[in-house]
Amino acid sequence: MRDAVRRAAERAWAEGERAPVELDRARDRASAASIARAVRDLCPDGVLDPAALTAAGALAERHAPIVARWIDELEIRGRLRARPAEGGRTELEWRCEAPSPRETADAWAEARSHRSGAALTRFFARAADHLPELLADTVQAQSLLFEDDDVTDEIYRSNEASRYTNAAAAAAVRAHLEPRTATAVWEIGGGTGATTEPVLDAVRDLDLRYHFTDVGRWFLDQALDRWAGRAGLTTGLADINDPDLASNLALPPAGGYDVALAANVLHNAADPARTLTAVARAVAEDGLLVMIETAREHLPLLVSMRFLMSPPGPGARFTDHRAATGRIFLSLPEWKDALARSGWRLDLTAPGPDPSHPAARYDQHLLVARRVAPEIGTA
Ligand SMILES: C[S@@+](CC[C@H](N)C(=O)[O-])C[C@H]1O[C@@H](n2cnc3c(N)ncnc32)[C@H](O)[C@@H]1O
Repeated sequence: MRDAVRRAAERAWAEGERAPVELDRARDRASAASIARAVRDLCPDGVLDPAALTAAGALAERHAPIVARWIDELEIRGRLRARPAEGGRTELEWRCEAPSPRETADAWAEARSHRSGAALTRFFARAADHLPELLADTVQAQSLLFEDDDVTDEIYRSNEASRYTNAAAAAAVRAHLEPRTATAVWEIGGGTGATTEPVLDAVRDLDLRYHFTDVGRWFLDQALDRWAGRAGLTTGLADINDPDLASNLALPPAGGYDVALAANVLHNAADPARTLTAVARAVAEDGLLVMIETAREHLPLLVSMRFLMSPPGPGARFTDHRAATGRIFLSLPEWKDALARSGWRLDLTAPGPDPSHPAARYDQHLLVARRVAPEIGTA
């Protein structure tokens, strides 16, 4: 499987457009400028007081960890020093002036001057322009995202990291199912179908049931329209934070699914080990979990997509170390550990922790885990 996965991924990687490293740098510079400006505007007296900002309606409670992460990033870049103060407040000592609105706009103009990744840059810039409203929850990141169809395509399908990981996922599913008969795949958080499409293509000749699920009904309707007439395709709602996820799944096959597929969704789990345990309950022994995850929170993500990832309510709040750090993504070692505690063994990562790989700068990976524990614990 390893060779098939890497071959398919490298081929897809080589086939499409490559974004220049200068584009990443320009987006990073512009995002850092927007973050510095937003923190400066939120805390004009150099004190971050989340409770007061929430009471004043300037900061939705669920987004408060974003500001904490921004301050971490500004510290890493030497722009300020942060000291915890009483009452959950933070004192900020600026080490260099926050860029002016004009300098910030110029930084975004420079990022937009790159031809590749243009739709995505437009989205990042649009989100960066609305940081006060996003923080206050008066504008939703979804509305900025879905203004422009090209953006979702660039985020999940056409960019080089997604081409690599989606092709890798399709090859892994194919390699596992090919020797088996009457197989079944459960896709979790199928969303826009950017991973579904290459997977369905790769297994088109196999006898297969494919259960496409998401937490949002809109995505299910889209999937039904898109793959109308595809034999064996069903859809259903499934929330990875549902304590009864496995038992509430519509139509689980006897013996369990051969593959659970989860592309860019499992980081939404309030408790990753609990969700992974629930997924394992729906998968046959020796079955696979094929997942795609990004390990690094890039600055453009922290001014845009990150707002989509704030848990909607108390029931979905992170209960692992992320509750304290404000981070959203788990590192590869953290996923390996969560998988090992939940009835899985991590068999393969691609590209994995290889700094010399040309996709390393994206830090987005395919992870393939095998269900190993006959008795699944209660992580
Ligand atoms: C980043 S998108 C990726 C979607 C998809 N893999 C694609 O390629 O478009 C995350 C998806 O996870 C879904 N999602 C978010 N929270 C979820 C949850 N608690 N349970 C199940 N799905 C969830 C969203 O509705 C969205 O479709």
